[in-house]
This record gives sequence, structure tokens and C-alpha cells, in this order.
Amino acid sequence: MKKQHLFIGGKPTESIQYKKLQAPYSGETLAEVATASAEETEAAIAAATQAGDTMRRMPAHQRANILYKLSALLEERKDEAARVIALEAAKPITAALAEVERTIETYRFAAEEAKRLTGETVPMDAAKGGEGRVGFTMRQPLGVIGAITPFNFPMNLVAHKVGPAIAAGNTIVLKPAEQTPLSSYYIADLLQEAGLPDGALNVVSGDGKTIGDVLVADPRIAHITFTGSPAVGKSIRSQAGLKRVTLELGSNAAVIVDRDADLDKVIPRSVIGAFTYQGQVCISLQRIYVHREIADEFIRRFAEAAKQVVIGDPLNPDTVVSALISAKDVQRTQEWIAEAKQAGAELVAGGEVEGGVLRPTVLVNVPRDAKVSCQEVFAPIVVINTIDSIEEGIEHVNDSIYGLQAGIFTNDIQTALHAAEHIEAGGVMINDIPTFRVDHMPYGGVKQSGMGREGVKYAVEEMTELKFVMFNKN
Ligand code: SIN
Repeated sequence: MKKQHLFIGGKPTESIQYKKLQAPYSGETLAEVATASAEETEAAIAAATQAGDTMRRMPAHQRANILYKLSALLEERKDEAARVIALEAAKPITAALAEVERTIETYRFAAEEAKRLTGETVPMDAAKGGEGRVGFTMRQPLGVIGAITPFNFPMNLVAHKVGPAIAAGNTIVLKPAEQTPLSSYYIADLLQEAGLPDGALNVVSGDGKTIGDVLVADPRIAHITFTGSPAVGKSIRSQAGLKRVTLELGSNAAVIVDRDADLDKVIPRSVIGAFTYQGQVCISLQRIYVHREIADEFIRRFAEAAKQVVIGDPLNPDTVVSALISAKDVQRTQEWIAEAKQAGAELVAGGEVEGGVLRPTVLVNVPRDAKVSCQEVFAPIVVINTIDSIEEGIEHVNDSIYGLQAGIFTNDIQTALHAAEHIEAGGVMINDIPTFRVDHMPYGGVKQSGMGREGVKYAVEEMTELKFVMFNKN
């Protein structure tokens, strides 16, 4: 049985405690994984603090080269890396490989950003008293970054924190999701091989509360960057004091389908948005608001397409939907579906569990306060409601505690721009699903979807301090 140690100060470090990690689909034990104690987390912070000077002084071209080298190593081993993700996250292998390819690109973007840490000149004489002075800004690393990452993209969402942190000259203590720690240790080994100095990245797996509490409270940590649930995000925010905090939280992402939308394009795209990786994506398409004039056809064709989605073993290249991350989530989704039906919703596809896998599920005419509509479902469940106008659609989209990304399919430019302006979300995708993301675009939410932005350049901004310098020529 593989024993996965902690990774502290550039080397595998034995822990006091280990816990079996089971594959969500097969139940097979994948490894015994270290569960860091508070003291072991403090040792990781000490190692990151010690490596601080080395990283701060390292020239940008060297930081960039380490990140380029990591991308190249990952490119060579992408099949192996995808298998690690597929097994521990039950992510269908085709989606896992796509995640590895995105991860390679994210680290490449980070390498490029390392060389673009620019400032700006400030026209000092624009204010009385500023004459004869030169002013400019520069960006400096914050120090030690505490990164807490979720199970659903165990490589690429780690890359969105580790890549920018290194690009900016910071060091990191990374706490991966308890369900998917192996992907993070895999990357830590590759980064070491790529030449990252000892202690610049430390990985401590284990219980979220034990490790998280230490990271949030320790004064040596300058910035907490967290992706996960709103409840944990709020708790971090309330305990973090003056630490900088970036929060990427959940959503119940929605799309509006206008009466002129091309259903041959919209339906396959929406099926991908709703069901890829069993809907366990923060911007998974959960709510569809379709114009009444095309609603019957849309619902019939969407339900048909949902029934065709291949479910099962994540190692099968045809699988799109596999097991949810835990049996508890299967139970929860069954309860939520039953609640919606009882409140009057009609089930037009799925709903049943087969071999531990929840079939892609489509519910129609769902009351707005049913959990499958107003809470983050994080499962292959989509609700479809009919609208009489775009204005009504926007009202429904905004009737949410969340606001990460939204979409609208329309051929009317006025409608598109009106929706872009009035939808309350961090991003609006015109003629695409809310699930669209490439890794250099700004990504983050409003309301309970979080604060701050990722997308490599934007994360680098969050992970650096803006310093102003004035030079008096008088
Ligand atoms: C997320 O679940 O927040 C990440 C989605 C993505 O990167 O595609």
C-alpha cells in the first residue's frame, strides 16, 4: 500500500497519523495519506517562511523557468497525471486529461506573468505640490500564501493558486481537499524536479478545520486563498483579521435561452454544462430559463440528450458522469429531487441511482425555493423553467444568493448587452454556458460566490503588494 507522506521543506515528511483514501467509484483503497496535525502545519509554515528570502530574491526569469519546466514535465506525464485525478476524484478520464492539459497551460500563463510584474508611473505634477517629483509603483511578493483547494479540480485549481504565488515570488503552504490529496503531492514532486527551492511549496493534507484554523490564525501567513463552500469561506473571512483573503465559493449558475436561439448548438452545449464531471463544478449549469415559444421543443430534446449521456467507470474514455464524491452526496441529491417533486416539479429524465452513479437528472417547472434551484446542487441535476421575456429571465438569474457566472443565448445584440449589464455575476457569457472558462480570464464571483479574482494575472495581483515610490528632484 502506497504511503503518502506530507511534503515539507522540499522533502516527503512522515506524519504522526495516516488515513486510508478510497476511490469514490470503485471503493478501492488508493493510498494511506498523511493527516497533518496543528504542529505539522506549523512546521510547514516555518519551512515556507524560511524559504521566503530565496523566493523574494529569485530573478523573474528563474521563477518563470521553473514554471515552464513544470509544464514540460507535466506534458510528458499527462496520462499518468490524469489517472491520478480520475481515480481519486472519480473524474471521467477524458475530463481528467482535459484538466491536466489546462493545468499545463495555467502554469505556462504563470511563467509568462512572472515576467510581467510591472508598475506604472504616476504624473506627480497633476496635483499642486507634486511638482519636480517622479512617482512610480512596483509589485512585491506578500510572503507566505496559505492555499486551501477543493476536490473537483485537484490539479488545475491548485495550479491557480500555486502558479501565481510562485510567479510573484511568494512561498506556499497548500492544504488540498481531503478527498483528493494525491494530485497535489504529484505536482509538489514535479515542482521539486523543476528546481523549486526547498520550502517554497509545502503540502499538508488532512482535516480541513485542524489545518485551516492554523493557517488562518498564524501571523506568518500573509494571504489566504480559498476555494470551497460559502460556509467555510465566511468563517475564514471572519477569523482572518487583516490578512488578505481571496474566496472562490459556490454558485447555482444559470443560463437564459432566448426565442431565437439555435437549439442545435444550445442543447449539446447545455448538456456539457450541466453534466460534465457529474455537475461537480462551481459554474456547472444548474438553472435554465427558456423562452416559452421554444420551451416544449427545448425540454423534449434536452431530456432526450440527457438520457444518452454515458455513465459509469471513470476510467472508461466514453464516460461523462461517474460517482459523486461521496455516498452522502448521493443521499442528499435523492432528498433534494424528492423535495422538488413534492413541490410540483416534473422529473423528465434521470433521478435514479445506478451502480452508485446518479443518472443525469432534469426537472421542469421547479419552484424557486426548492433546494435543487436555490442552493448549489453540485451534482448532475438541472432545472428548466419557462420565461415570457428576457427581463423575467434576468430576474430569475439574479434571484440567487450566488453570482459567479451566467450565460445567455440570443442573436439580438441589444438583448445580449442588456443582459451583460444587468445580470449580477462575476462573468456573463454571451452565446455560451456559464460553465465556460479558460485559465487566463478573470474568474470570481459576487454575493455569496466570493471575493477577489483568479485567472493567473488577476491572482498575481491579489498575491502582491502595490508599493509606491516617490523621488524628489527638487
Ligand atoms: C470551479 O469549479 O470553480 C472551477 C471551474 C473551472 O475551472 O472550470
